[in-house]
Amino acid sequence: MNQIDLRTRIDRVLYSEDVISRRVRELAQEISDDYRTRGHAADAKGRPLLMACILRGALVFMADLAREMTIPVEYDLISVSSYGNGTAPGAVRLVKDLERPIEGRDVLIVEDIIDTGYTIEYLRRNLESRDPASVRVCTLVDKAARREIKTQVDYIGFELSEDAFVVGYGMDYAELYRNLPFIGVLKQEYIG
Ligand code: IMP
Repeated sequence: MNQIDLRTRIDRVLYSEDVISRRVRELAQEISDDYRTRGHAADAKGRPLLMACILRGALVFMADLAREMTIPVEYDLISVSSYGNGTAPGAVRLVKDLERPIEGRDVLIVEDIIDTGYTIEYLRRNLESRDPASVRVCTLVDKAARREIKTQVDYIGFELSEDAFVVGYGMDYAELYRNLPFIGVLKQEYIG
């Protein structure tokens, strides 16, 4: 199965490679300007903004966003997984933690897509309990209409109002399609 085969499984492209790259550049500019003007381009100890990438979906977005930032940044990786059936809805657990403490640091959580909100809310609370200077959230796609719990999202690439399952640019269905350079909707026959 090659890349060409995968593309034929896409019903329609929602955000093309060009559209994504333009939006990522704008977002990086907005975020960089915000931190710079809030005096948070570095913390009290001179440490730069720490971008915390949620594996694995946000990896592609993170790589592009970090390279468009115009303030110094560090980045680290964190991984969570949803509990399976039989547990409380939205139960999330930490699979891989950040490598280093974040006490006193400015942290920007970088996510691919926010759906019900459980994942990002769990992570925000988890990181906030470690006494960072600040925690903000950036997501490439926001499915705000599907939110089940209230959660603060500071930077949004695209608001997706329709109820569609999207893949590409890091996002998967059953681990496939992450390396497609655009974001699209899978044909129904390939879901399920
Ligand atoms: P939440 O906890 O319901 O907000 O789910 C967030 C996670 O679900 C994201 O990090 C994605 O991994 C996954 N997810 C939600 N919607 C989609 C989608 O349309 N495509 C791919 N992954 C999705």
